[in-house]
Amino acid sequence: MATYKALRINENNSQYTLAVENRDIEQLPEGELLIRVKYSSLNYKDALSAKGIKGVTRQYPHTPGIDAAGIVERSSVEHFKAGDEVIVTGYDLGMNTEGGFAEYISVPAKWVVNKPETLSLRDSMILGTAGFTAGMCVDSLLQVGIAPSQGDILVTGACGGVGSVAIALLASLGFDVYAGTGRASEKEYLLGLGAKDIISREDLMKGADRPMLKERWAGAVDTVGGELLFNAIKSTQYGGSVACCGMVASAEFQANVFPFILRGVNLLGVDSVELPLDIKMHIWQEFASHWRLENLEAICTEVSLAELPAAIEEIYNGRQKGRVLVNLG
Ligand SMILES: NC(=O)c1ccc[n+]([C@@H]2O[C@H](COP(=O)([O-])OP(=O)(O)OC[C@H]3O[C@@H](n4cnc5c(N)ncnc54)[C@H](OP(=O)(O)O)[C@@H]3O)[C@@H](O)[C@H]2O)c1
Repeated sequence: MATYKALRINENNSQYTLAVENRDIEQLPEGELLIRVKYSSLNYKDALSAKGIKGVTRQYPHTPGIDAAGIVERSSVEHFKAGDEVIVTGYDLGMNTEGGFAEYISVPAKWVVNKPETLSLRDSMILGTAGFTAGMCVDSLLQVGIAPSQGDILVTGACGGVGSVAIALLASLGFDVYAGTGRASEKEYLLGLGAKDIISREDLMKGADRPMLKERWAGAVDTVGGELLFNAIKSTQYGGSVACCGMVASAEFQANVFPFILRGVNLLGVDSVELPLDIKMHIWQEFASHWRLENLEAICTEVSLAELPAAIEEIYNGRQKGRVLVNLG
């Protein structure tokens, strides 16, 4: 029986341990496509799965990895054939379905997009779900008509995966981007991505006790949530928009209606997981064409399966910088 390597999480008395194990391909769930994974990537949600957070993964042992890019090895549907290069992100991959931290996945065809020709498997996973989500945030701002001439854009959680790609993408589209960060030591990294300047988390939290703040931003991409998100909303100029996608600081915030009813500010929700497949395809196509980013390698740290547990600790503790690419050989 053919075997493959996977990073497994085992549970023992509410303790979660990680180890690379050899598994039989026949142990994978029944799926329309068997995919040889070439690259995966590390996202914050994978760390939650690895730490036993039941809202992400209910049962262990489990293989995390919400992202995978690779080559179809076996297909039982007409529209995919062996040899196709494909990308799988979101839906249930890596949550309660065995995920991309493995040399093989088995998934339903409705989760799978054909990789655009002009995007490599490697680049698709340097982007991964975090980069894809940054793309969705930018797309949502563009769709409500925000343009570089309207003013500055704030990106919070700037050193993280979503933040890094959002800065690079917005800067490449001509926006003046300000990087909200807790790490002043990473100023050079953030300016290198295209940020005009950095703003400390402390400065972004000033005035949290006031109902409204001075108009500062044409728009914002917020990855951290909590009070910082509402401060960004309160500082958004008339008719501006804030794309909200994350919660590393908190899933909750105290709010009032003033920014919405006095300044017409829009709060734009962004979900990359259950998004219809045709919209996923559209975002990947944008990254393969109008949104091609030249500096992707600059935000990438490459790891093997064996090196992943250490990277999981880093991202869980808010210390990860940029994106972690998992090379599955
Ligand atoms: N809606 C969706 O579909 C979707 C998709 C992908 C990700 N997400 C969410 O988006 C968020 C960011 O994901 P990511 O992949 O970018 O994570 P990440 O790589 O871990 O980056 C998060 C960044 O947030 C900042 N940060 C960490 N702890 C913080 C705190 N307590 N307060 C304020 N800032 C803090 C750090 O940046 P600095 O050091 O620069 O401050 C950190 O690098 C997560 O909540 C993730 O679950 C949502």
